[in-house]
Amino acid sequence: MKRLAITSMMLLACSGAPDGGDGGGDDGGGGDPTVDAGDPAVDPCATPVVVPTTGRALDLMPAERLAELAARMPCVPPGALRDTLESPRTLWYDKHSLTPGYQDSFGDNVVTPIGMRPNTIDPELINLAVPGGHEQIFIELGLFHFPFGNPIGAQEPIHTVNFWRLPDDGGVPVPVVYWQRDPNSYTHRVEWMFPAGTAFGELIFVERGGLLHPVEIRTRTRTLDGWTVDAYRPFPRAADLADAIEQRRAGPASPALDALVAHLRDGGTPVPYTLKATHFASAFPQRASGIDRLPALAGADADVIHTLLRTTPFRSARGVYWKDAGPNKAWAAGASGPGNIVPAGYNAAAVEVSEASCDGCHRDAGRPFKTWYDNILAYGELWGNDETFTWHPFTLSRFVDGNGRVQNFNHDNREIRPDMKAAGLIVKYNPAQHSPAVYQRIVREWTDFRY
Ligand code: HEC
Repeated sequence: MKRLAITSMMLLACSGAPDGGDGGGDDGGGGDPTVDAGDPAVDPCATPVVVPTTGRALDLMPAERLAELAARMPCVPPGALRDTLESPRTLWYDKHSLTPGYQDSFGDNVVTPIGMRPNTIDPELINLAVPGGHEQIFIELGLFHFPFGNPIGAQEPIHTVNFWRLPDDGGVPVPVVYWQRDPNSYTHRVEWMFPAGTAFGELIFVERGGLLHPVEIRTRTRTLDGWTVDAYRPFPRAADLADAIEQRRAGPASPALDALVAHLRDGGTPVPYTLKATHFASAFPQRASGIDRLPALAGADADVIHTLLRTTPFRSARGVYWKDAGPNKAWAAGASGPGNIVPAGYNAAAVEVSEASCDGCHRDAGRPFKTWYDNILAYGELWGNDETFTWHPFTLSRFVDGNGRVQNFNHDNREIRPDMKAAGLIVKYNPAQHSPAVYQRIVREWTDFRY
């Protein structure tokens, strides 16, 4: 088990090798091993990514919805990421199919209820316990303030779909392990831990004119003592986009695209930018960077950009600046309006692709609200566990209805999904059986908080 788990872990971890940064255009000449693999004369986008719609141990998402998204996949060159996208071992989900929720673990389950709460919980239900408490932790129904509301800052419609792949042990998944923690008679939390080698991904699409255009794939891969991260983009550097527009644009002359290329080549050094928590104060220490807000584009100009997004190989942006001229370096493009390569408002200019940077938020998945806000002790914990937000193992119908309202609020509604158990995706933790060579907890200062 150990050997296979580690092999699979290496797959995504290796793809995180920094880009050599030695120039090159949209054909991936920048030294990225995921792009350079194979014959450079072969167009890596010639064969589309094929996400299987059948053959999984468990389908979390309806096949039709997955097929719609599969039809909008970006170009991904051969390599570990592509293998994961194309594997029937990879399970896909979104907010409609794996309803996000958080645990409320503090209470006697008689007077003060405990259980799983959808993030879309009715404000009045929890404000009964603490007036104003809902507003304290949620910016809007279903979206936590943590640490500043929308985590990527998008100001136009986006869709994210997640993928999840467990390591293999001779064709059998190495399972997630769970256990119940009862540190006192008032605290009952279900904890879980992913085996080393587990990969999670977030594929971000921007929606324009009813169509989805892929902009980024973020990945987190469990190691024994943490997570390695990566983010894949079609244009890690401003020059990559300039090259692509110049080499591949077709159609009539466009002053807007000419101006964009000039801006990408030299004009428009990044302006100062800061990203900081608005709530959950300790969560996200302020980051200072630069930002390069690309102009809005429309009509045929936006069409050029959208075609490039679909037909340019996505490659690792680890350690690569979008623009590094001047004192305000930017890690990713920004945008002042729609039509460009990232959603308007996109904030990744201040988010380096590195463990330290990405963990800045992920480290707090499942953290007790009390460690930030004493008055809402009884609300439980931030969503997620084991540094992952969107995944949980609970039977949906037990805690949430089709409209996002909580079910069984007054008694503990947490049940580990029988279908996940039956598919061998999750089992009860047994330290005698589950080797520390595969399973180790990541311990933060609040882990096993006693209330
Ligand atoms: C500002 C806080 C924040 C930062 C910084 C951040 N994330 Fe996340 N991440 C989130 C939140 C919140 C979600 C859940 C988003 C949603 O609603 O779908 C998430 C979801 C994810 C997921 C899906 C699995 C999961 O944990 O639910 C992946 C993969 C991911 N992020 C990778 C990254 C990578 C790689 C980086 C660094 C480049 C990063 N994240 C930086 C907050 C953050």
